[in-house]
Amino acid sequence: MKRIGVYPGTFDPITKGHLDIIRRASRVVDHLVILIAPSTKKKPLFSLEKRIELAEIELKSLNISGEAQGFDGLLVEHMRTIGANVILRGLRAISDYEYELQIASMNRCLAPEIETIFLMASEGSHFISSSLVKEIASFKGDVGHLVSDNVEKELKACFAA
Ligand code: COA
Repeated sequence: MKRIGVYPGTFDPITKGHLDIIRRASRVVDHLVILIAPSTKKKPLFSLEKRIELAEIELKSLNISGEAQGFDGLLVEHMRTIGANVILRGLRAISDYEYELQIASMNRCLAPEIETIFLMASEGSHFISSSLVKEIASFKGDVGHLVSDNVEKELKACFAA
């Protein structure tokens, strides 16, 4: 059976922490789909279309067999429509555990045929979050070690004024 994995999240914007998970997730599944939620409650800085475009560029530069898509509604329902059977998530610190346990348990309840696989974030990625990256960029701080050159350029353009 072909393993189609999804890496769901908000990706506002995609960071080097996400890239660490994407690179390693691509070794676990045959095809990886980065699924990007609108997450309007989080009031994203980048539009959904822009977040998809940025993720596609990263996939291409990592030379990974995958794609980025937007999705709305229940994750497991969207996965069923695209024939995906594995959810990949990264765990950074113990503080991620409780939230991830809750989501994974609920998803298994909704769709017992879908498995969630957790990858421990690599050293150096434990402290990265998209919010922190945006905060640093908003104060014109250096985010070059946290995001790709392309994302850094987009952040600079957003906070240019
Ligand atoms: N490296 C860097 N950052 C990481 C990371 C890693 N390895 N893992 C998580 N993060 C950060 C993200 O940058 C994000 O930071 P932010 O809050 O500052 O933006 C934060 O951790 C968590 O965000 P994310 O992983 O994007 O998850 P989310 O909570 O925004 O999104 C969904 C969760 C979209 C996957 C989930 O809500 C969902 O599936 N929604 C669909 C509706 C649904 O099915 N609901 C029922 C679920 S049971």
